[in-house]
Amino acid sequence: MKNYLFLQQQFVVNTYVNRGLNLVRGEGMYLYDEKGNKYLDLMSNYGVNIFGHNNPNITKSLIEQFSRLPVLHGSFANDMRAESAFQLVKKCGGGLSQVYFSNSGAEAVEAALKFAVLATGKKKFIACKHSYHGKTLGALSATHGDKYKKMFSPLLWNFKFIEHGEIEALEKNISKDVAAFIVEPIQGEGGIFTPPINYLRKVRKVCDKHGILLILDEIQTGCGRTGTFLASQSSEVDYDIVCLGKGLAGGIPVGATLVSKKIATQIPKQIHTSTFGGNPLAASGIIATLEFLNENTLNHVKKIGSYFIDQLRTIQSDQIVEVRGAGLMIGLAVKDRNSLLKELQKNHILAIPAGDDVVRFLPPFIVEKKHVDEVIKVLKRVI
Ligand SMILES: Cc1ncc(COP(=O)(O)O)c(C=O)c1O
Repeated sequence: MKNYLFLQQQFVVNTYVNRGLNLVRGEGMYLYDEKGNKYLDLMSNYGVNIFGHNNPNITKSLIEQFSRLPVLHGSFANDMRAESAFQLVKKCGGGLSQVYFSNSGAEAVEAALKFAVLATGKKKFIACKHSYHGKTLGALSATHGDKYKKMFSPLLWNFKFIEHGEIEALEKNISKDVAAFIVEPIQGEGGIFTPPINYLRKVRKVCDKHGILLILDEIQTGCGRTGTFLASQSSEVDYDIVCLGKGLAGGIPVGATLVSKKIATQIPKQIHTSTFGGNPLAASGIIATLEFLNENTLNHVKKIGSYFIDQLRTIQSDQIVEVRGAGLMIGLAVKDRNSLLKELQKNHILAIPAGDDVVRFLPPFIVEKKHVDEVIKVLKRVI
């Protein structure tokens, strides 16, 4: 058999960490390597595979659409694209009226930034320290820290970074040339940081008071990850712009930028388009995903997420710094994060890093108590 780990290292540009596994198949909560060894998937490809792997419903929907019409340019109408946009706008609510479709989270953010400029005529933004909005040049400008940016500066436009969760910092930094504040309801890549209760409601008020737009990046927190379709829905705020991606199309690449009516009317034809954006295959995935994210699934996410967090908190170890998160977006801050990730993988459990010291769990929404018990048992042994 070919050594695919080696082949990938040789022929794929090495911008990713090498986890040393060649995974070839997925089924439910498990991923399998080429020898048939199985790994409990508690990361769902950084939050994508919310159905788990090879779920018959999503697979059927995608295969049917693939054989009917997978791609159609946005200049033609299509039943799936129209229906998915209609359903998505309804599901989000909060004054959102239209959706721009793309193919990744970073693209959803790019569109959000451009739409904010079009709607306000301004090019200054406020973003948060520890934020992550993607690595294309616009999204990277909104992402905090030197790590990914230093080599490319100067980047686009003008971004000011303030503490996440601090409302005074926002108000202090707004000037009349600011177009928008972009924020994740819970910071994901940055390390699973949850702001104080009512933060988003206060943010909304401050944005309205000073006439700036609010861009919510729900790429990681959205699609049911925290137990509501959008994490921000529990704050009952009105929306200007919301970004979605990850699991929105049941595993098919997708980005979505939802805008209010006021903003939609400011976006001229052809100013921002994408060949694959809103392709009917992804649209059929969105429709299947919205059906899957019913009350039962969302309640399960809340319940099993609380169970997971509670169980993590029972582990007695001076290695553990903190357990934090909401729903199935969970961070375990530890003293030696990389060693713990390796130990988990040795025990056939897959989690991912976040921030400097966090083991992040983003399991598929079909995760059950027995899977949580399994990881807790292993953690108690290895930590
Ligand atoms: C909050 C947030 N925004 C944007 C992105 C970028 O998404 P993508 O990697 O699909 O470009 C991510 C990816 O992790 C994210 O978590």
